[in-house]
Amino acid sequence: MTDLALNGGSPTRTTPFPSWPQFDETDERALAGVLHSGRWGMADRIDEFEAAFAAYQEAEYGISLNSGTTALQVALSAVGVGPGDEVIVPSYTFVATASAVAAVGGVPIFVDVLDDTYNIDPASVQEALTERTRAVIAVHIGGQPADLDALGELLADRDIALIEDAAQAHGAAWKGRKIGAIGDLGTFSFQASKNLTAGEGGAVISNNRELADRAWSHHNCGRSRTGAWYEHPRLGSNYRMSEFHAALLLSQLEHLDEQMATRTRNAQLLTSLLAGIEGLTPLKADERVTTHAYHLYVLRFDSERFGGVDRERFIEALNAEGVLCSSGYRPLYREAAFTNSFADYPLETPYFSGKPDYSRFECPVTERICAEESVWLTQNLLLGEEADTRDIANAIAKTREHAHTL
Ligand SMILES: Cc1ncc(COP(=O)(O)O)c(C=O)c1O
Repeated sequence: MTDLALNGGSPTRTTPFPSWPQFDETDERALAGVLHSGRWGMADRIDEFEAAFAAYQEAEYGISLNSGTTALQVALSAVGVGPGDEVIVPSYTFVATASAVAAVGGVPIFVDVLDDTYNIDPASVQEALTERTRAVIAVHIGGQPADLDALGELLADRDIALIEDAAQAHGAAWKGRKIGAIGDLGTFSFQASKNLTAGEGGAVISNNRELADRAWSHHNCGRSRTGAWYEHPRLGSNYRMSEFHAALLLSQLEHLDEQMATRTRNAQLLTSLLAGIEGLTPLKADERVTTHAYHLYVLRFDSERFGGVDRERFIEALNAEGVLCSSGYRPLYREAAFTNSFADYPLETPYFSGKPDYSRFECPVTERICAEESVWLTQNLLLGEEADTRDIANAIAKTREHAHTL
């Protein structure tokens, strides 16, 4: 085995992994069809996509939007979150999960995640409940569903909505049922990196007619589905998707199952190949998760067991071997977006027994994950052949073997 590429050896991999997004002539035809139709907004492709995507996720109602962030805002508005309301969110997630709460006037309450799945910890949720908790957002991080049983049980007799942030989890399933409409509402993103994408876009799904109607109204200028065009029974905004996006998503949806099968096959192979390598463990696969979307393949890095190498150095070495990876999120409650913006929040809430104070949050699991543990491989690395997956494992094994040279 040659030296590490970082130390002048030849890299394990010199050819790129599959690129993302992927497209073919059916996508071109779909886009050209909209172009020539002269109907670029609020027309048939949107209706078709909403029906197809809701059906794909096994939900009754689907609403298309312009992003996953606005999907969260619309879902939060639909369940009635407003000024002074608390919404419990995991501290290990993309900023939108929490900033959407602030955007509708609410206060995000951060809780810790489980150290074996990185998903929201139901026990921490329980501890954070107050009389002003209006909703809990369960993020299916990396594409692995959060513990929907525990959260469902916890919220069953309370007037608190469960929103699934499924931005990373298209097609994922919990005990055989697709996620998204297991909670009250589910939100999705079709931003460029996502497993189903049109560059940008989002969706809300639900099995609850009333919530779906409210979400529809919020995304369409506060109109009602049955009202006149210039009648606005609610305050809303324009978060609609374009026909181009809907047409592209419809044609991309045709490829999703096949791509998911490839990712799953490669992820399982990678897990088996990494089994003997000391100092790296994939996240636990919860046995109730019957389909993992593998938006991310996440490794838990243990510096002590990896020859004392620190995580950043490991990531540098693996990148030099031609396997691109990164360390992922930072603890969200530390971001100035929350610490500064909420300094002037005009209302007190029970969680804080006063005005919001984000310096109070300290989630030890999130802190450790972010500081030293998580290593992310993105979904496109899992879209290749078996040999591509073997290259990932070989690069990691080589890095482990040469750890003493790092
Ligand atoms: C967990 C999570 N929630 C929400 C979003 C927001 O989606 P979008 O980028 O489409 O606004 C993302 C996307 O990056 C995400 O990963």
